[in-house]
Amino acid sequence: MSMRTVAVVLAGGIGQRMGAGRPKQFLEVGGRPILSLAVAAFDAHPGVDAVVVVMAAGHLRAAAALTAPYGKVAAVVEGGDTRTASTVAALTALAAEHDDAKVLFHDAARPFVDAATIDRVLAALDEADAVAVGVPSADTIVEVADGTVAAMPARHTLVRFQTPQGFRLGLIRAAYDRALADPALHATDDCGIVHRYLPDVPIRVVAGDERNLKVTHPLDIVIAEHLATETETV
Ligand code: CTP
Ligand code: MG
Repeated sequence: MSMRTVAVVLAGGIGQRMGAGRPKQFLEVGGRPILSLAVAAFDAHPGVDAVVVVMAAGHLRAAAALTAPYGKVAAVVEGGDTRTASTVAALTALAAEHDDAKVLFHDAARPFVDAATIDRVLAALDEADAVAVGVPSADTIVEVADGTVAAMPARHTLVRFQTPQGFRLGLIRAAYDRALADPALHATDDCGIVHRYLPDVPIRVVAGDERNLKVTHPLDIVIAEHLATETETV
């Protein structure tokens, strides 16, 4: 029996760095809300069975209205104060799913995720329980402590993570069970949780795509507007 694949679109943030006065996932690029573009990419993908949208409190109805056209959207759930808390809300909503199901966590703020990237994550999940997408860094990245370089990893060993990140549901449930028992819990993404709390689990990294940027600062809207004119969206 083939298990289900569920995509979780995380839209529980409020876009503080964007400073738009409303969550950035409601801003339009190419005439469509960022949230709609992100949801549409998974809705249209033949390998995805259902989509769960996580939204900040106070915006649930707006999110339900925007995502209503997409038939695979099974639920719009309220997120939490941190991305981690929003992921936990999604896992709660997925309580009835089998441990062998595949789950993809995607930042709603990445409207240009393409089918090929989703394909690569799903294919890698047949061989690994945790999968990330990464792109090479054009900039040298260094570790800084107290204003001084503390470590300088060779650039060719570094990638920048994007989303979606994919997991077998049982694995990510186990990782979060441990994470939630840690009072010092802090992570910026779901692979970070696996890496920290299930350190023996290999996280496969597949190629990402430069266009799959995370709309974060006002400048990113300018770039996204440009990408919207030349990117085929669904
Ligand atoms: N996210 C979430 N729940 C939160 C915080 C973030 O679901 N409590 C989501 C965001 O909506 C976004 C993704 O996680 O799609 C990546 O987060 P980020 O780019 O940091 O978005 P915001 O938190 O909204 O932005 P900022 O940090 O500038 O406030
Ligand atoms: Mg944030």
